[in-house]
Amino acid sequence: MKIRRPYVVMISEVTVDGKLTLKRGMSSKIIMSVMDEEADIYLHRERARSDAIMVGCNTIKIDNSYLTVRYIEGANPIRVIPCSNADLPLDSNVLKGDAPTIIAVSEAAKEENVEHIRSMGVEVWICGERKVDLVLLLEKLFERGVKRLMLEGGPTLAWEMINKRLIDEVKLIHMPFIVGGWDTPTLFGGEGVGELNKVIHAELERYFLCGKHLITEYRVVYQ
Ligand SMILES: NC(=O)c1ccc[n+]([C@@H]2O[C@H](COP(=O)([O-])OP(=O)(O)OC[C@H]3O[C@@H](n4cnc5c(N)ncnc54)[C@H](OP(=O)(O)O)[C@@H]3O)[C@@H](O)[C@H]2O)c1
Repeated sequence: MKIRRPYVVMISEVTVDGKLTLKRGMSSKIIMSVMDEEADIYLHRERARSDAIMVGCNTIKIDNSYLTVRYIEGANPIRVIPCSNADLPLDSNVLKGDAPTIIAVSEAAKEENVEHIRSMGVEVWICGERKVDLVLLLEKLFERGVKRLMLEGGPTLAWEMINKRLIDEVKLIHMPFIVGGWDTPTLFGGEGVGELNKVIHAELERYFLCGKHLITEYRVVYQ
């Protein structure tokens, strides 16, 4: 059934070997610190074009991201963080008042955690029983007026999103180095498709250089 949801554009920085960070548990800000300014501007322009920006709560716990527009002039999109247990550290940058923020939690989240977040002036939406229901969350965002949602990872959330056919485009900022590591997170996590006839196709729409970074932009084609 077709759902009324925002157009979803996923954007990530990936190494030559498809990794998102140096090692499991390490912040992607370390690899992003050597990104050319042109690529930062590209990323922040994409943020400014979006009505909202979504990141999984484990990325917030590890990276303590701000998710604001800084490299160009532009309005900050609404920050959306799915966090089933509402257990974000209360000193997280996304809970500071720089941009409107929605923390999506499940009915299983402790009331105390929800109240702490609300007391900081941040909206909490209850979407789903034990885990945040992403379809419901996207429908609610659409009703709120979010037409373009940027997804900035991480791989656990990205897999759930693509597995539910909720991503329309994937844009990659390629970091020209290799980090290796069996356990280092890659662009999409989850259980994977496992069969050739289940792969999720992506059509290359555009590619160009941005400083030392190749940028590739794909349209996701669900079959
Ligand atoms: N290079 C890049 O562009 C980039 C971008 C982002 C992240 N990263 C890196 O990725 C790593 C973190 O990735 P991650 O995979 O561990 O975490 P993640 O995808 O950021 O967050 C996953 C968490 O989101 C919560 N969540 C709530 N509802 C969900 C749902 N329906 N489906 C899936 N998740 C849901 C879950 O926690 P609850 O069960 O508590 O709800 C889940 O554990 C970090 O190292 C970070 O630096 C890199």
